[in-house]
Amino acid sequence: MFADEQALEEMIKKDDQLAYEFYEMNVPDDPGDLAFGTSICYPCKVGNEYFMTKGHFYSVLETAEIYLCMKGKGIMLMENLEGDWDYKVLAPRQMVYVPKRYAHRSINIGREPFIQFFCFRADAGHDYGTIETKGYRKLIVEKDGDFAIIDNPKWKR
Ligand SMILES: [Fe+2]
Repeated sequence: MFADEQALEEMIKKDDQLAYEFYEMNVPDDPGDLAFGTSICYPCKVGNEYFMTKGHFYSVLETAEIYLCMKGKGIMLMENLEGDWDYKVLAPRQMVYVPKRYAHRSINIGREPFIQFFCFRADAGHDYGTIETKGYRKLIVEKDGDFAIIDNPKWKR
């Protein structure tokens, strides 16, 4: 998932850190139900690229989602299959509405855990495979003490 494979290998050899985790409430996933929980992305970088979640589409592509930042500072990076992309910087008590059809990934650009509450239709099903194969069009990296958005050299059309 990370651009700098050498930095990643060195990091894993030294200290196999946890990048992120999430907790879902165990509710039914029938049509009409809502899935919700929290995701935690930890502060660190691989080379100059911030720790992030894998990111996913929903199997039911016509699925939107809300995220509420509870702690830390981060970015929600979003892109759709048509090539449109967007991002939102989040601080505590700020929300983002991830529109239908958009893959989304959380990135920690701060110094403490980036914790978000999320909620989406429970029968949507996750699609992690598309992002695993294609990657994201854009990467969020640290540059001169701030974040910068650059093209992903490994992105596959
Ligand atoms: Fe999601």
